[in-house]
Amino acid sequence: MYHSDDFRQTKEDNFQLHISREKDFKILQLTDLHMGFGWLSKKQDELALAAVKKLVRRTKPDLIVLTGDSVFPFWPKAGTRDNGKQAKKLMAFLDGFQIPYTLVFGNHDCEMGSACDKEQLGRLFKKGAYCIFTEGKKDLSGVGNFVIELVDDAGKVLLPLVMLDSNMYGEGGWFFSGFDCIHEDQTDWCMERLTAYRQMDPGIRAMAFFHMPLREFKDAYERMKLGDKSVVYEHGSISEKNEYFGISKRPGSFFDRAVENGVIKWMFCGHDHLNTLSLTYKGIRMTYGMSIDYLGYAGIKKSYTQRGGTLITRKADGTVTVRMVPLDAVVSKRVRGNGTPEKNKAIC
Ligand SMILES: [Fe+2]
Ligand SMILES: [Fe+2]
Repeated sequence: MYHSDDFRQTKEDNFQLHISREKDFKILQLTDLHMGFGWLSKKQDELALAAVKKLVRRTKPDLIVLTGDSVFPFWPKAGTRDNGKQAKKLMAFLDGFQIPYTLVFGNHDCEMGSACDKEQLGRLFKKGAYCIFTEGKKDLSGVGNFVIELVDDAGKVLLPLVMLDSNMYGEGGWFFSGFDCIHEDQTDWCMERLTAYRQMDPGIRAMAFFHMPLREFKDAYERMKLGDKSVVYEHGSISEKNEYFGISKRPGSFFDRAVENGVIKWMFCGHDHLNTLSLTYKGIRMTYGMSIDYLGYAGIKKSYTQRGGTLITRKADGTVTVRMVPLDAVVSKRVRGNGTPEKNKAIC
């Protein structure tokens, strides 16, 4: 576990990280690394690690957040099912930056037949020298539901970062049975925590990080395409085939509850490697992180316009910016978009 005078675990599901009010605080969201670390994935792993290194060096973040599918224990592609070994290798690599990092699980980290389940993998990640992770409350769905509070020197919470396990698969329990979502008990837990923050500070705003996109992200995209001006285009595009969103078939109430609760203003996900869209809907900015994957999708090694990270900056004055950090300098307008809702029609 990360160790610093500025950092402590205060509860089973809560951390505090002290930050300076005078300086910007930079979070680099990386998603879908799909590290194989097996005999079939050597080339792709080298490329993925080089990409991460480049992005970290370029952005110099204060915190790195991995939004799932960090490891990929899928034998036909990686040549191993040992996600424990994969996690250890990934941690050794990330610890080398000497920058704290945290993570949520995706649907692939504990793929069927993998050596470790989520509890075991979570215990391993807790051993990372710079890793911030806890399983969270045992009676909640998923593993790794917790909050990292960014606090000032006086102990005032400036920005809670809510980490959520969006679980894995729906009925049937495997890839082709569709994806799961954030469950009701996790939603209750999250909203209770947020309400408590709001009671202390009515102006507080929070961020949520999880792997699978919410169905409302797709709804908002569809509305935007139909010209609904209440949806604000921010950046990026939907580049998955047939404008695919890997959403759950289950309804899930997380988005509606977050809107009603009013504290979460930013949501970050991954999962759909080619989607980089960011938009604001009902007061919440939803963002697909740029992804790293060289191994998961067939042929993705050659595709580059989606590859990169997402830099989230909490400025000293409390404002927040979110921007794409493409790995390659040249990214087509189709991916980057034009930056205004009006011009966005060109990318639909
Ligand atoms: Fe993925
Ligand atoms: Fe995924």
